[in-house]
Amino acid sequence: MSKKKSLTKCIGILTSGGDCPGLNAAIRSVAKASMNDYGIKVIGILDGFRGLVENRTLLLEDKMVSGILTKGGTILGTSRDKPHKMPMGGKKMDMTTAAVENIKRMQIDCLVCLGGGGTQKNAFHLHKEGGVNVLTLPKTIDNDVGGTDITFGFDTALGIATEAIDRLHTTATSHHRIIVCEIMGHNAGWLTLGAGIAGGADVILIPEIPYDAKIIAEHLMERRRSGKRFSIIAVAEGAVSITEIREKSDQGGKKKKNAHPEQKTEYSENSTPYHLVEEPRASKLARELQKITGIEARVTSLGHVQRGGSPSAADRLLCTRLGTAAADLLARGKYNVMVAMRNGECTAVPLEKVAGKIKLVSENHPWISAARLVGSCLGD
Ligand code: F6P
Repeated sequence: MSKKKSLTKCIGILTSGGDCPGLNAAIRSVAKASMNDYGIKVIGILDGFRGLVENRTLLLEDKMVSGILTKGGTILGTSRDKPHKMPMGGKKMDMTTAAVENIKRMQIDCLVCLGGGGTQKNAFHLHKEGGVNVLTLPKTIDNDVGGTDITFGFDTALGIATEAIDRLHTTATSHHRIIVCEIMGHNAGWLTLGAGIAGGADVILIPEIPYDAKIIAEHLMERRRSGKRFSIIAVAEGAVSITEIREKSDQGGKKKKNAHPEQKTEYSENSTPYHLVEEPRASKLARELQKITGIEARVTSLGHVQRGGSPSAADRLLCTRLGTAAADLLARGKYNVMVAMRNGECTAVPLEKVAGKIKLVSENHPWISAARLVGSCLGD
C-alpha cells in the first residue's frame, strides 16, 4: 500500500475487557502506522464499548501516542461492558443502536477493538447486528483467544508469575511450609502451567485437569518423607476439584464454574454496577491440604499484580508487529478480521472463526508432558 495514500479514511480505536501490559504499545503501533504511513485519521474511544455508547472520544495525534510503548495499562481506559448488555441505571440494556449511530456520526470506516475473548464477541456482534466494519487484536494475559498462537500481555504476566514463584521458593524453604500461589487465567491454564513449569512449582493445578486434594496431599507428604521440607503449589484461579465436579453433577450440573467476574454483576444502592469479590481458590485449597497433611500452609494470590506495569520486550515486539499489520489491513480495506500471530507470521483470521472460540490447554500439549516428566504433580 502506498504511503499517505488517503486522508479520507477514519478509524476508531478502543480497548476493552481487563487491561494488560502491551495495550499502549498496540495503540501506539496501530495509530502511528495508520496516521503516519497511511494518512488515516484515528479517533480514540474512551473506556471501551461504554465510551462508544456514551460518545466519549478524542482525536489521536502523533504526540499523544509517543512515549507510551513501555507504559502499562491503557491510555484510552477500558471497561468490561458489552454493547448489547450494558448496565444502565440499574438494568442491562441493549445499546447496539446507540453504538452504531455514534460510529456513523463520526464517519468511522472501521472500529479497531483491542481485547480478549469477550471483545472478539462484542466486535463480531457490532459487525453482524449493526453492519459495522471491525478489526480486532488479541489481547489478554490469559492467552485463551482462539485463532492465534499467542495473545499480547501473556508473556509479561508469565514473567511476573514466574518471578513470584521464584521468590516464594526462598521463603517456603526457610520456613518449611507449603505455599499455595494463585495465578489468574480465567478458565484457561496457560499462565499457571507456564509459570509453574518456569518457576519449578511442585504442584501445578489448571482448570483443564480437575484435581484431587488427596493426591496432592500424598505428593506433598512424599516430598517431606524424601527430605524436601517445603512445597510450592501453583493453582489457577479457575481450577476445580473432582469433588466439586461430582457435587455439581449430583445437583444437575447445570452451571459450569466460571472464574470470570464479568458474569457476576451486582448493583450498589446507587445503581453502580460492580463485581463480587470472591474468596481466592488458593485459600480453600491451602486449608484443605493443611488439614490432611498437618503441614503449615500459606497463601499468595497474585491478582492484578500480574496485569500491572511495563510490557516485556517480547510483548512490545508482538504489539508492534500486530498493530502495524493491522494498519496495513485497514489501509487496504480488509475488515472484519482479527490480526493473529500464527507460526511467527501476522495473519488475518475472519472474525466469525474467532468469536466465541476459547483456546484451552489440551490434554496432550507438550507443556503438560514436560511438567509431568520433571515430576510436577498435576493433581490427577
Ligand atoms: O481476562 C484477564 C483477567 O485478568 C483474568 O485472568 C481474570 O479472571 C480477570 O481478568 C479479572 O478481571 P477483573 O480485572 O475484572 O477483576
